[in-house]
Amino acid sequence: MPRYAHVIGWGMALPDQVLTNEELAQKVDTSSEWIIARTGIHERRIAGKNETTASLALRAASQALERTSLDPRQVQLIIVATSSPEHLFPATACLIQDRLGARSAGAFDLSAACTGFIYALNMAAQAIRSGSLDNAIVVGAETLSRIVDWEDRSTCILFGDGAGAFVLQASERPGGVLSCVMRSDGSGGDLLSVPAGGSRMPTTHETVQKRLHTIHMNGREVFRFAVKAMVSATREAVARAGLDMEEIELVVPHQANLRILENAARSLRLPPDRFFVNIEHYGNTSTASIPVAVCEAVEGGRVSPGDHLVLVGFGAGLTWGALTLQWVAQEQAVSTGRRFQRRILAWLARLSSFLRRIWLHVEGLIWGASSGDSPEE
Ligand code: ACO
Repeated sequence: MPRYAHVIGWGMALPDQVLTNEELAQKVDTSSEWIIARTGIHERRIAGKNETTASLALRAASQALERTSLDPRQVQLIIVATSSPEHLFPATACLIQDRLGARSAGAFDLSAACTGFIYALNMAAQAIRSGSLDNAIVVGAETLSRIVDWEDRSTCILFGDGAGAFVLQASERPGGVLSCVMRSDGSGGDLLSVPAGGSRMPTTHETVQKRLHTIHMNGREVFRFAVKAMVSATREAVARAGLDMEEIELVVPHQANLRILENAARSLRLPPDRFFVNIEHYGNTSTASIPVAVCEAVEGGRVSPGDHLVLVGFGAGLTWGALTLQWVAQEQAVSTGRRFQRRILAWLARLSSFLRRIWLHVEGLIWGASSGDSPEE
């Protein structure tokens, strides 16, 4: 019996703090008119002092899970696609696993820049379709505002913070993830990078002074690559799913620049209204942009059960990819009792995490005392 990987839950989280073009124009030499004309962006969300990639990812994942009947303890895999992880390690996905109380889940981060959500969704869907997993949570989460050079007008106008998440589940009913194209070209790696902070260029006073821990980009070259990549990946993914472009109800592209999306829609000979666009409110939120856009499309009534969607993205690496998806999910009514149970489970997850930390500490003390070993020896 063939297995399919269906999206059964979806969620998003955006910081409350809004940074408008007008406010940006007071910090760098730009204007709201220039930003709107060249990018389509009017404002973006910026993480507050206490918000991080993990806190946004947790909110999005919790919301996605709440739409399903899954208990966090049944979740089998968590993938967080991100370019601005909480730490180099541990993985942001492990922090989400702990805070959700997903005791049976494996968890890892995936790095493919703005294409990361598509790569991660495909990895999880393939694991489900092959029979090795029954469900997974896939998150795209970013706080790019923490790695943007706020004095570089060519990049700081583009990016914003946010998170989006899907819950995938195995089903025998046809639908869900139908096909995917994943591509890369490392020869274009220097077109878009954060040069320092890795093993090639560890952190020094000099790297900090030269602002090498922030996003560096050749915008014009990335623009040219993006249009070509989106068009070819979309065509290939649709063909691999055995569909025609006319059968695609909605394309949900990575929200990087309105002009890139308009050019891609023209090349694909699709009317603009078949491309979902929300870039004006959030700018480029990298891995979060596609799941956030899908959430808004569903909530805005642009997606109905049975619709075929294409999710398509590109980013640093260079990476690009597209995925076709038949949307089967319907909003499930969650009872008050179930909501209450969820709250109790979330509280128990926090308590159990706290107790495990204490136990690990105590265990360390006991082992240290009984073996007589000390790290200095
Ligand atoms: N305000 C005013 N002027 C500006 C600004 C600004 N914010 N930024 C650049 N300019 C100037 C430039 O200095 C240049 O001036 P010059 O001609 O005197 O040298 C002029 O505007 C034109 O610059 P271009 O770079 O040619 O402008 P362009 O129309 O290409 O727009 C932009 C720049 C918006 C960055 C565009 O190239 C773009 O969006 N590229 C794609 C970027 C992208 O999508 N990146 C994300 C990839 S996904 C990921 O992995 C994170």
